[in-house]
Amino acid sequence: MTRYETLADAVGGTPLIRLTRLAASVRPRVYVKVESSNPAGSVKDRAALWMLRAARANGSLPPGGTVVETTSGNTGIGLAAFAAHLGYRSVIFTSSAVSAEKRALLSAYGAEVRLVDSFVPKSHPDSLRSVAERFVTQTPGAWLADQYDNPANPEAHRATTGPEIWQDTEGRVTHLVATVGTGGTISGTGGYLKEVSGGRVTVVGADPLTSSYSGGDGSQKYVEGAGHFVHPEAVDDIWPQSLDTAVIDRYVAVDDRSAIDAIRRLAVTEGILAGGSSGVALAAALDVARDLAEDDVVVAILPDSGRAYLSTYFNDQWLVANGFRDDESAEVTLRSLIPADRRPLLVSRDELAGRALAALAGAGDTDPVLVVYRRDRELPPHPSEVVGWTTAKALREAADDLTVAQVSLPAPPRVGIGASAASALEAAHEADPLWTAVLVLEDGRAAGILARDELEARAAASGPPARAAIDGFVEIVL
Ligand SMILES: Cc1ncc(COP(=O)(O)O)c(C=O)c1O
Repeated sequence: MTRYETLADAVGGTPLIRLTRLAASVRPRVYVKVESSNPAGSVKDRAALWMLRAARANGSLPPGGTVVETTSGNTGIGLAAFAAHLGYRSVIFTSSAVSAEKRALLSAYGAEVRLVDSFVPKSHPDSLRSVAERFVTQTPGAWLADQYDNPANPEAHRATTGPEIWQDTEGRVTHLVATVGTGGTISGTGGYLKEVSGGRVTVVGADPLTSSYSGGDGSQKYVEGAGHFVHPEAVDDIWPQSLDTAVIDRYVAVDDRSAIDAIRRLAVTEGILAGGSSGVALAAALDVARDLAEDDVVVAILPDSGRAYLSTYFNDQWLVANGFRDDESAEVTLRSLIPADRRPLLVSRDELAGRALAALAGAGDTDPVLVVYRRDRELPPHPSEVVGWTTAKALREAADDLTVAQVSLPAPPRVGIGASAASALEAAHEADPLWTAVLVLEDGRAAGILARDELEARAAASGPPARAAIDGFVEIVL
């Protein structure tokens, strides 16, 4: 079908494309379902439309009402687009940490974007969720889409994504690989495929390494949309009702670097531009395919396009700044200042300063120590969890009743481990003229902390940045 009488009819029917180069070394056929072909650009168009239709049908969204959601991401964009199409006002609550492009997209569809910036658990009165709920109670005709607990979300995939994959593979699909955010995609699609195949289709959850769905420590990650984050102060880890865990046969955990590598390879070997969560799905699909036979058929769902990530995963400067790659023009990088075998020293911000010292046995008096929400996470901290820095000496000298947070210095500017000392200095000055230390990131997580005097001494010792070879003449590096 190529002609549609309404925009809503154009949702779904996305292409299933075989990977001819990237999957050349594995035995089964590997296909990707490219969800960026939906009208507002992602897999979430399906859920957005289904939730809107259900709310209209059951009267919770009256004519002339207001569509409300708490996401910056693709669901907000889909809801804003279909609210416009169906003649509703839309109000999206989001945080300013979300990229300017995404906020601009919401506004372009006519949504009112309200910024809520507090970093608190969902149940807190200042959380995005609580603020949106208050708005709904106070606004006649307002309806909160609530993708996490809305049954119309998985239903959209049971009705569309699942049948499309079954038809397009002529019933030959053996493995579905999908990420799990709200769980709508994998529960609906996987549930349908299991039913129609009599249980023959294996459903694999492709999950960020940190996600608590697959047993990760729940800490923050770079890939958006996929996985489950647990706020460091959350009491309970509550999973969405849109997720039916019984549908998932097993998980494959994928770290941020592997996901980013996967989409960069997809773009340059297959010509398909996809986002970070697609990288999680793709890396997991290739991993699964390695153990399968020629008559197996693997389908991985790619939720959105890489266009929204040109300033991040597809940007070399961003990759260097976050420790995902080395600056090729740097002769010496910060790596030489950070011992490879030592994890950063950590203390929890709410502990009493004197008690926190116990965690620093063996540390030098002036060794920099990171102050984090919780020091019991398995992986080195994500920068959003770093609230400051201190030293054992400062903790020892603090009054008995002060917490670590009360005696620590502010969170340091972030630099990548593959940057040169000179460029790290420049980045630190730009981020905060009064900086006292830098947080060094490797693969996006804290690899260590360098005090200002140490970094300045190193930058002075390594001289001006190296100049590159030009037209065959090699410049002498002073
Ligand atoms: C980019 C991206 N990937 C993956 C997902 C996960 O999909 P689901 O919520 O259906 O589990 C989302 C959901 O918002 C998303 O925006």
